[in-house]
Amino acid sequence: MPTTPEGMPSAHPGGAVPHVDGAVDWSLLRERAIAMLDRAYAPYSGFPVGVAGLVDDGRVVTGCNVENAAYGVALCAECGMVSELVAGGGGRLLAVACVGRHGIPLMPCGRCRQLLWEHGGPECLLATPQGVLPMREILPQAFGPEDLDADRRREETG
Ligand code: THU
Repeated sequence: MPTTPEGMPSAHPGGAVPHVDGAVDWSLLRERAIAMLDRAYAPYSGFPVGVAGLVDDGRVVTGCNVENAAYGVALCAECGMVSELVAGGGGRLLAVACVGRHGIPLMPCGRCRQLLWEHGGPECLLATPQGVLPMREILPQAFGPEDLDADRRREETG
């Protein structure tokens, strides 16, 4: 598997990665995600998750999973990260690294892919076990805000 200069595996050798990839400090994002593993509250699954996202204003937002004795209400790491993004003033996610134990890249669950789509859109990059991929490949034919707008427009025009 080819790697980026930072050592991340790359599924897009030869510069086919979308334009922002060159500006993403993947090692920093991975470090920040790995640091979150120690904060994870995962006494029930024993499966800590950490995540870090680069925002379009340059800040880095992070999150960890927070479980609950009522198992079904556990919060994924991405929920915490998106909450920090919005509570900190909003912005667009450009790149996200999500990791499990030992810093192994982790694919976000279906619900969290939807969260990333809302706040990063199709070009947001994700560090996956197969290299850096855009969200349009992670959540193809996604449902998003445009679908609501299109529906409203149809209602208005009859
Ligand atoms: N988990 C996340 O934090 N993010 C994901 O995208 C997948 C799953 C957490 C939820 C739960 O605390 C643990 O991993 C095991 O499912």
